[in-house]
Order: sequence, then structure tokens, then C-alpha cells
Amino acid sequence: MNTLGEDAKNHGEAVGLSVDKITIHGGKPLVGRIELKGAKNLVTKAMVAALLGETPSVLKDVPNISDVRIVRGLLEVHGVTVTEGEEEGELILDPSNVEVAHFAAIDAHAGSSRIPILFCGPLLHRLGEAFIPDLGGCRIGDRPIDFHLDVLRTFGAVVEKLPSGIRMSAPNGLHGAKVELPYPSVGATEQVLLTAVRAEGITELKGAAIEPEIMDLINILQKMGATISVDTDRVIRIEGVKQLRGYTHRSLFDRNEAASWAAAALATEGDITVGGARQAEMLTFLNVFRKVGGAFDILEDGIRFYHPGGDLNPVIIETGVHPGFMTDWQQPLVVALTKAKGVSIVHETVYEQRFGFVDALVDMGATIQIHKECLGGHACRFGQRNFNHSAVITGPTQLHGADVEVPDLRGGFSHLVAALSAEGTSTVSNVGIIARGYENFISKLQILGADFVLED
Ligand code: EPZ
Repeated sequence: MNTLGEDAKNHGEAVGLSVDKITIHGGKPLVGRIELKGAKNLVTKAMVAALLGETPSVLKDVPNISDVRIVRGLLEVHGVTVTEGEEEGELILDPSNVEVAHFAAIDAHAGSSRIPILFCGPLLHRLGEAFIPDLGGCRIGDRPIDFHLDVLRTFGAVVEKLPSGIRMSAPNGLHGAKVELPYPSVGATEQVLLTAVRAEGITELKGAAIEPEIMDLINILQKMGATISVDTDRVIRIEGVKQLRGYTHRSLFDRNEAASWAAAALATEGDITVGGARQAEMLTFLNVFRKVGGAFDILEDGIRFYHPGGDLNPVIIETGVHPGFMTDWQQPLVVALTKAKGVSIVHETVYEQRFGFVDALVDMGATIQIHKECLGGHACRFGQRNFNHSAVITGPTQLHGADVEVPDLRGGFSHLVAALSAEGTSTVSNVGIIARGYENFISKLQILGADFVLED
């Protein structure tokens, strides 16, 4: 596996970001309007779905982020032609000539992404075999792929572990199955959907994740000719079909990015309008944002997030699967909570190690303790397992500048927010990691009036 620095460099370079560090002069409110594109966590899966069609697909509002570049590279090594459409952010994906790729080519393109695991179902349908290299993704926990492998085996895949990765084949084709997930995993739900739509017979999935990005993937698959029903209590039924066609689809907006800029507005006492953000998919976030003391206006074409003045309030947050408070929303919000008057608790129940980013905030003067116990209410599956997964944040504190290193995507954005809201100068390094999931974040900071210098 690459070092964090190498990863950061690769992600940055993939989207034309040649610098590694930003020096930020903090203390200036971020003010202005920025525009969102499609959700990273939908767009990358929608690109994989194009593999299932017999004709080209058109995906709109694709952001220029390095995770998209990685999926594009992986599709191309499998013979999919990917071209830019007329509209900015439009990709045309033509899977007419899908072919087996060499292990080395897949490995070289996969970088540190976890997306290759989702290629398996579609490739088994198209080619009868699939290979995945050692998987990466953000360093926020163990991130196993056992659910994925179990699901694929249930459909009839033969899984072979090799020193270089995992090879799969489907000697008897893939067949609809009854699947029950032990946890409503987003990726494993997508795995079932992408595999079941062309498997023979009916699939019933219990314990499914129902995040808006999954619903939008279902919209796409239905456009392609799939029959999928979403029942109550996390049950999804899929009737397999022999053939699917390409789709034309405009991606759901990136609600994780919207929440990040909202937290940046609050922490810097600013006023940011996030063009393209919608209320329906952010209800839970908006409730918490308001409880902390943030204000928002729902506009026809976006949401305005701002600090209305006065003190911020402490809150107790438990992250969870949709419709709960997303794990990807907590990191930038923790920065705002360092400014709230009193004690806040964040209980992380999705990933066991998602508080690596707080060390940097402590270096900047925050008072944050991390605990192994489940604090704030319910016991979760990490409680008895010695994982540092609850944070206690005591405020208000005025952060001061420091030199910090981006550990992962969301943690990295929180470091930017901390530096922007701190008194004095900070240097944030490994910023390339942020390019995984935040399109043009440097120009957005410029638009919002941040005071910073890019360093080589
Ligand atoms: C997706 O990850 C997102 N990534 C994550 O976004 C997001 O935080 C997460 O869903 C939860 O919403 C993408 O969509 C590319 P999971 P995914 O499977 O699908 C455990 C970001 O910053 N698990 O729902 O990988 C797992 O360890 C990120 O944008 C297994 O045990 O998440 C975790 O504890 C990072 N075995 C929990 O389930 C498995 O085989 C939820 O993971 C799979 C997962």
C-alpha cells in the first residue's frame, strides 16, 4: 500500500492539483455562493452500472474528483470508452467492447479506491470473471469486504484468494438469491443491486441500506430496464433480466459536501450558499445544524447556511445509517462544536476509527477526549471491542494555528475548516487527499474569500 503522502500526491495530480500544502491565515468568515455537482458516493457507482448496459450511458453532473478519475481508469482498462459530453460534467460511457483486463492494469488504476469490489457482479455477468486487487479507501477503520464476498458467493460466484488479490468466476452463471445483511452496509447493498439486476430469477435483500445515493442508483437501474421494489423495513426485491440498456441520468447532489460547507460557514462565523443542495436529503443534518445554533434558508436552487450570531450550543450526536446522522457529516461539524458553549458528545457507530482527525484539532487548542465506551445514549457494536469511537468536545475554545497533516477525506476537510476558523497561521499538508471527494475545493475557498497561499 502507498504511504499517505504518495496517496495525497496521486489524488491531487489526478485532478490537476500540483501542490501538497496550503498555508491558511485563519479568522476570516467564509462568505459567498458555491455550486455542487453530483454525489461522489453515487456517481462512482453509476459509472460502474454503465457496465451492465448493452448501449452507452450518459451521466450528468459528474464532479472532477480523483475517485471519479479512478473509476474512469478502471472502466477504460476493461474496454469501456469514456468521453466527455457537451455539458460540463457530462460523461458518456460506452460498454460495447467490454474485455478482460490484466491484473497489473487493474491494480495500477485502482489506487487506494474501494470501488473495484463493485465491478465484480457486472464483470461476472459480462465476462464470466473478475479480479480485485488489495483494496484501500480512506484509513478510517478495518473496512473489510466480507459482506461483499458472501453476497457474491450467494449469487453463485467462485471466490479465489491469490497473493495479488481476489479472482472470481461464475462457471454456472449468477442466480437470484435471498440475502440478509448483518449490517445495512451501503457498499454491500450496492453489490446486491448491481449483481441481482442481471442474475437469473428473483433476489430478496433484507437489512438493506437505504441512503439517498442508493435510491438514486435504483432510479438509474430502473431506467436501464431493471425491476426493483423497495419495501418497508429495509427489504429490496429485484427481478433479474437478461439484458439492460444504457441510461441518461443527472446525479443526485453531494449532500456530504453540502454538510461540509455548512459546517465551514458555522465554524468561521460565515454565510455560505450551497447551490444545488436540497432539503429532503439533508433533513437530519439540518435539524442538528439548527440545534447547534446555525441558521439556514431553503432556496429554490440551494441552501444558505450561516452563523446568526450569539453562542453555539453543545449537542449529543450519534452517527448512523440513513435516515440517521451520517458518519461523513461529523468531522467538519466537530470543528464548530469546539466553539459551542458546553460539552458535546459525538458517538461514531458506523466506522470504528473515525476520530484520527481530532489530534490535529487538539494541537490547535481544542479540548477533545476520545473514549472507548459508547457515550451519549445507545450501546453500539463497537462498545465492547476496545475501539476509540466516542468523542467528548468541551468548548468554547478559540483555535490557534498549527501545522497539520490530512489523515483522510472528511478528516482533511475538517482540518481546513479548523485552520480557516483559527487565529493565526496554519499549514495543512497532504491536501491532495481532499481532492478525492471535493471538487475544486481550492477555487471554492477563493470564491468564499479565504486567505491562503498554495505551497509546493
Ligand atoms: C460508503 O462506504 C461511502 N463510500 C462512505 O463514504 C460512507 O461513509 C459509508 O458508505 C457510510 O455511509 C462510498 O460510497 C464510496 P459501508 P462503504 O459498507 O460502502 C462494515 C466518504 O468519506 N462493513 O456502509 O464502504 C464497515 O467496516 C466515505 O465519502 C463490513 O464489516 O461503507 C463499516 O463499519 C468514507 N464488511 C460499516 O460496515 C463489509 O464487507 C459500514 O460500511 C462491508 C462493510
